[in-house]
Amino acid sequence: MAPKKSDTGKRPASTSRSPSARSAGNGNGRARRGVSSQPWLHQKGAEVQRFGTVRQFPLGLSFDARMYSCERLNRVLANTQILYALYKKHHWLMRGMTFYQLHLLLDKHAGEQLELVDMIAERVQTLGGVAVGDPRQVAEITTIPRPPDGAEEVPAMLSRLLEAHERILIDAHDAAARTGEMGDDGTNDLLVSDVIRTGELQAWFLAEHLVETPLVHA
Ligand SMILES: [Fe+2]
Repeated sequence: MAPKKSDTGKRPASTSRSPSARSAGNGNGRARRGVSSQPWLHQKGAEVQRFGTVRQFPLGLSFDARMYSCERLNRVLANTQILYALYKKHHWLMRGMTFYQLHLLLDKHAGEQLELVDMIAERVQTLGGVAVGDPRQVAEITTIPRPPDGAEEVPAMLSRLLEAHERILIDAHDAAARTGEMGDDGTNDLLVSDVIRTGELQAWFLAEHLVETPLVHA
């Protein structure tokens, strides 16, 4: 039976309402007893799974393998969320003669990093874990240095992105090898085929913008 609701979405203080009160409905224009379209608002509940734990899923992977993969994936996930945010920051703060080209390139890279964020997070969930999502927790886990709140010179901004890529790549190579050793081929594949391949390609595109080349005279 559907719950009786007040028109504020809170549970009524008493359920001993008179028949006339029941027939008057709940303010939604429908008076049929036990039926309401009023959402249950302002609900609070206990935490049902703590961060850093894994549920048992029938994946043919040991508890230890899934725990280890989730821990490594959550660090890559936190760093990837920071890299995504750095790409957006520098997409906005770009300036100079190559503004438009870099403005577009950095946004493209940001979009690809955001796709990775979703893939990594869903891998953590697939393994029974809890993916880091709140930016405040991301800030506690990330190993990528915080940039100044203001704008830096363009080459410094590009270098900062390259260094963030390298941190993720070093960590992802190690995580891929170790999760593979523990039998978690799916995590190994995600790290190699998606995180590493995407990161390497983006690093190449960034690095080429830091080559000093004559624009008019050879
Ligand atoms: Fe934009």
